This record gives sequence, C-alpha cells and structure tokens, in this order.
Amino acid sequence: MTRYSIQSMTILLSTIISTSHLYAEGMMPQMMQMPGMQTSDDETLMNKMPHGEKLKEIPLLKNQSQQPGVFKADLVAAPVQVEFLPGVKTTAWAYNGTLPGSMIEVTEGDKVEINFTNKLEQPTTIHWHGLPIPPEQDGNPMDPIQPQQTHAYQFTLPNDSAGTYWYHPHPHKYTAEQVYKGLAGPLIIKPKNDPFNDIPERDLMISDLKLTSDGAIADNDMNDWMNGREGQFVLVNGQLQPVIDLKGTEHWRIWNATSARYLALTLSGHKFTQVGTDGGLLEKPLRDLQKIILAPAERIEIIVDPLDKPGTVSLLAEPYKRGKMGNVQPDKTINLATVNSLSSGKAVAIPEQLRTITPLGEAKSAKRIEFTETMSMANGHHSMAFLINGKSFDMDRIDMISRLHEVEIWEIINKSDMDHPFHIHGTQFQVVDSVFKNAKTSAPYLAWKDTVNVRSGETLHIKVRQDFPGVRMFHCHILEHEVQGMMATQMVK
Ligand code: C2O
Ligand code: CU
Ligand code: CU
Repeated sequence: MTRYSIQSMTILLSTIISTSHLYAEGMMPQMMQMPGMQTSDDETLMNKMPHGEKLKEIPLLKNQSQQPGVFKADLVAAPVQVEFLPGVKTTAWAYNGTLPGSMIEVTEGDKVEINFTNKLEQPTTIHWHGLPIPPEQDGNPMDPIQPQQTHAYQFTLPNDSAGTYWYHPHPHKYTAEQVYKGLAGPLIIKPKNDPFNDIPERDLMISDLKLTSDGAIADNDMNDWMNGREGQFVLVNGQLQPVIDLKGTEHWRIWNATSARYLALTLSGHKFTQVGTDGGLLEKPLRDLQKIILAPAERIEIIVDPLDKPGTVSLLAEPYKRGKMGNVQPDKTINLATVNSLSSGKAVAIPEQLRTITPLGEAKSAKRIEFTETMSMANGHHSMAFLINGKSFDMDRIDMISRLHEVEIWEIINKSDMDHPFHIHGTQFQVVDSVFKNAKTSAPYLAWKDTVNVRSGETLHIKVRQDFPGVRMFHCHILEHEVQGMMATQMVK
C-alpha cells in the first residue's frame, strides 16, 4: 500500500471513479460529483428560496416540570417534510419537527431529563456538545439508541457551567449525515447571576444546506468527504438572509452549526464587543472588534450596539482560507443577515468585569495529538484517511488514559494541509499558546473552550481536566473528517 499526502493526490481526484472504503459500507452517495463542481442550477435554486423575511426565534423546548431546578422535556428525532423552495417538499430529519431543533434553555444547577425517541431508520444518539456531564449520558457512539427506541438522558448541570452549547447526533459513522439532514439544536445554560439581565438576547444558529436541483437534501460527494460539506445555502435559524431589527443594544449568541464551513464574521465594518466563548463569559469584554472567525462547532457571545444614526449593516461571512483541496471554487463573501438599526435604538453600557475564570494551573501530565491526512491506494481503490496519531477511529480502542481531576497539557499538532477544529467531549479547556510559522503566541485572554481551530502547520497547547470517569471522544469537528476516522478515545479513571 502506498501513501501520499492528499495535496499531491488531488490531481488524481478528477480521475477517481472507483469506490472508497466508505462506499462499500453503503454510506456514500450513488452519484459522485467532481470536486468543486458548481452548476448553474445553484443560481436558480438561490433565487427560488425565499429570503429577506424577519428573523424567527428558535422555538423553546417546554419544561414539563413544575419543580424548581428541574427541567424535563421530550425530544423526538424523525423525518419531516419542509418547504425550503416554494411548492417543493424536502424530506429533512429534525428534532421535534423544526430546523434547527428546539432551543433548550436551562440554568446552572438544574437537574435535566430529556426523554428521547428515535423515529429514524438509523441508530442515533444525542450528544450534548460542550456540557460537563458524565460520559454515559453524553451520547457516545458506543451507546446507540436504536430505531423506535426511547432513552432518558439525565444529568445535573454543575455550578459555573453557564454558556452556549448545542446538541446533535453522534452515532458511529452517521454523524455527518444526520447533522446535514437537519438534526442539531441549541442549548443555553443561563447563569444564576446574569450581567446582561437588562439586555435583550438574540440567538443565531448558523447552518449549511445543500440541495439537489430538484430540492432534495443532497448526499455528500467526493469533494464533501474530502473538504467537509458546504452547501449552497448558509442559513440563520433555518432562514436565508433574514432581517434583524435592532431596537437597541443586544446580546447575541452565535453558533457555527455547519458541518465544515468557517465563518469569518463581520458586521460590514460596524464594531462589536465579544463577551463570551463556547463555555460562557469572558472575564472582561473585548471591545471594538471588526471580525471573529468561528470554526465549525464554535460559539460566541457578542454585544451589538445600534448604529449612531438609523441605518443598515449586514452580518457577513467573509472568505477564510482553510486549505481546501482540489478544484474548488474560490470562496465568496456570504450575506448571512441584514441588520436594521432603528432610530429608537439606545446603547446600553456593559460592565468591565463579567466573571472570574480560574486558571487550570500546573499540568501534571502531558498528551500529544497529531492530525494527519493521507490518501492511499490499495487493490486499485483510492481512499482518504483523516488520522489522529496515525490511526483511524476505532471505538473499541482506548487511545489515551487520563487521571480523573488531573490537569493535563495537550499538544495538538496539525501536520496536514487543511485546518481542523479540535473538539473534546465532557469538559471545557483553556488554550495556553500557539506555535505557528516559528512564532509562539500566548493565548490573548483566559477563556473556556471545547472547540478550537488548529491551522495547517500549527501546534496548539491547551490545558484540560476531566471531572467524570469513563470514555470520552475527541475529534476534528469537520463532521466528514470525524466520520472518516479523525477521532480518538480518552479513558478517564
Ligand atoms: Cu459536537 Cu463529538 O461533537
Ligand atoms: Cu462534543
Ligand atoms: Cu478535519
């Protein structure tokens, strides 16, 4: 078997007609488009999809419990018919029938019970992305919920866990497909003392949608499996280019719930303030920002003030070079939403101290993670592999052993040609520093993160501690890479 780097093999991709190992398992599409092929159908589709409507709020999941400190609700994953294009029925998969899935709003300290029913024809799980909860409640691929089965996920939210999280399926091999068909929803843990109590909150969950010319959700093609899937449409709360009326200062939470798209977010020059990351508030606000890059699965909290006089700005995703391979179209700036700043808009000042974040402190042990990509040819078959420490994911293998409650330093090295967002389950970490192009940069501020981008050629150091025993996953959050093996296990004991 010969191994080449993907970059040197991309030229060959245009001649690949053979099947990869994934096809053999019946997971890959029947039809294969060449990388980067964009048809004029895309333009037609874009024009057909309604856009410019008022931004909708994500429907709130109703708490069925009357008891204070208890949140109890039902979630069902099932196929639904939606109308993205007027008069065309598209089958999607959804939690409780909506895209995105219902908003789960809970508070630090709450006891949570979600009764989940799988009405799909595949096994699934619900993974609670970013939550500090025991592994057996965290929707690991080892704990599938079979079709027609019901399962109660139960956990208690620790103090100081307030933040912006989400939930999505994590079954073995089907995560990418289940998410791109529509299964993902937001989860917010509210702090007991909210410094933004007086500022209206707005939640923006950004997702990708890729349709075929007849309006079905497209299968992944070869290019999607290689670079990660990016659709023709980037949606906000399931809507194309919605309109936001800004009546005054607002507190926004933004989720990158796309499979693979990097969002270099701007408000077309209007400055904003970052106040939070994945795992909640920063210690101090970061004011006067113009752009934030949100890698797949990352979240932010920002404060948006109205313009000085009534006017309009756009929420844009500017191009970001993440090392996509093959013959792909150059990225364009994407208009995500229009923001109308109304004349009545009043700015509200925010405090200089938002919370305290305790540094994780001295590390007692170290781990080393290496991301690589390879393209191999064996028996006349080409297959790509996305690897961690030279290995493809095996859920029956333990890749790392860590001690419960012990602070570790992880060195994450990206030796591949693409950026990969690193994500670990069950905890929040602190980035220490980055080594990139021979320059070492300390993390500019202390923050809790569960997902962080690792650029091609970059080495990151993070400090991390796991507070529950059991098996955790860590992986690239480009979901196609995760499915193709860029995932590993950590046993905590
Ligand atoms: Cu968003 Cu392994 O998860
Ligand atoms: Cu996760
Ligand atoms: Cu990746």
